[in-house]
Amino acid sequence: MLEQFPVDANDFDGPVLVTGAGGCIGSWVLALLTKARVPIIAFDLSEDKQRPRLLMDEDTLAKVTWITGDIANTEDVSMVVRDNAAKAIIHLAALQVPFCAADPVAGARANVVGTVNVLEAARHNEVKRLAYASSVAAHGAPSDSPFLATLYGAYKLCDETIARVYYQDWGVSSVGMRPSIVYGVGRDQGMSSKPTTALLAAAAGLDYTVPFSGQMGALHAGEVASAFIKAVSKEREGAPVFDINGVATTVEHWVKLLHQAQPEVRINVEGAALPFPGDLSDKPLRDFLGDYGTIDLEFGIRETFSAFKDLLARGIISANNLS
Ligand SMILES: NC(=O)c1ccc[n+]([C@@H]2O[C@H](COP(=O)([O-])OP(=O)(O)OC[C@H]3O[C@@H](n4cnc5c(N)ncnc54)[C@H](O)[C@@H]3O)[C@@H](O)[C@H]2O)c1
Repeated sequence: MLEQFPVDANDFDGPVLVTGAGGCIGSWVLALLTKARVPIIAFDLSEDKQRPRLLMDEDTLAKVTWITGDIANTEDVSMVVRDNAAKAIIHLAALQVPFCAADPVAGARANVVGTVNVLEAARHNEVKRLAYASSVAAHGAPSDSPFLATLYGAYKLCDETIARVYYQDWGVSSVGMRPSIVYGVGRDQGMSSKPTTALLAAAAGLDYTVPFSGQMGALHAGEVASAFIKAVSKEREGAPVFDINGVATTVEHWVKLLHQAQPEVRINVEGAALPFPGDLSDKPLRDFLGDYGTIDLEFGIRETFSAFKDLLARGIISANNLS
């Protein structure tokens, strides 16, 4: 799948710092940037490279500068930017919906203080290329929204406002993106990871029920990673925020496509729809960034299923304890 998203190393004038590099989107960003031989600095709370390992071979991964630190720690973030002369930052480190609900203070520290730390580091080190992940959940935060308000969404909306003020007051430019439901190899946590879990279960020959139904924006992890890379492939002005929805579909259609491709699998759907929009337009983002690649849903499901089959066969991933 990496070949679907070409990256030109000539667009980069120095190392790219990737925060949350051990996460799903971070792993795809690492894989795409290393494939193009763009220098990177991976930053994550965890030393665990299990997700990048699903996409990269050991030799390539061993060459990545991997720095462990807490995004909520101002000194950790300032040091990693300064000491590595980062020229661009892709800021992905965050806690997802259930983790913010379980520990609101940890959520605010990672998701809000962490973003302030990144913006501060960009400001003091004159980093001119910065992209950060907001979320579709930010749509639920305004008081008149028809969608569900979550602490996670509130933190993300707060980040967007903070980024705007950093541009207004100090000229720190950034690009914010609000991904919908990201799917693909490496997607294994968060409330919206279940459509991907269904593909892993199916590849392992297990029964599985996706615990929500209805509309969803299905966004391939490689596609969103490619958009983040494109966002920092040149200097930009302002602090715009964009939806990045992927394919507007439903969980039911997702499962139908899987059954059409693999008639033997036993995947069901039950439960209410997720309380977030699933049919937002990517056109404003595509107009702003230019082409960053597109993954058609049938292809994305088929390729992810095959990738899981292969990873299972090679013992690199396990389908035990799926929930
Ligand atoms: N996956 C989605 O569907 C989705 C949708 C909307 C927005 N997003 C946003 O995109 C970004 C990446 O998502 P993902 O799916 O890759 O998430 P993920 O949960 O797979 O990975 C997040 C990574 O951040 C790291 N992290 C967490 N707290 C940290 C801290 N205090 N300091 C340093 N690192 C820390 C984790 O160790 C993990 O490797 C996040 O900001 C997320 O909120 C994701």
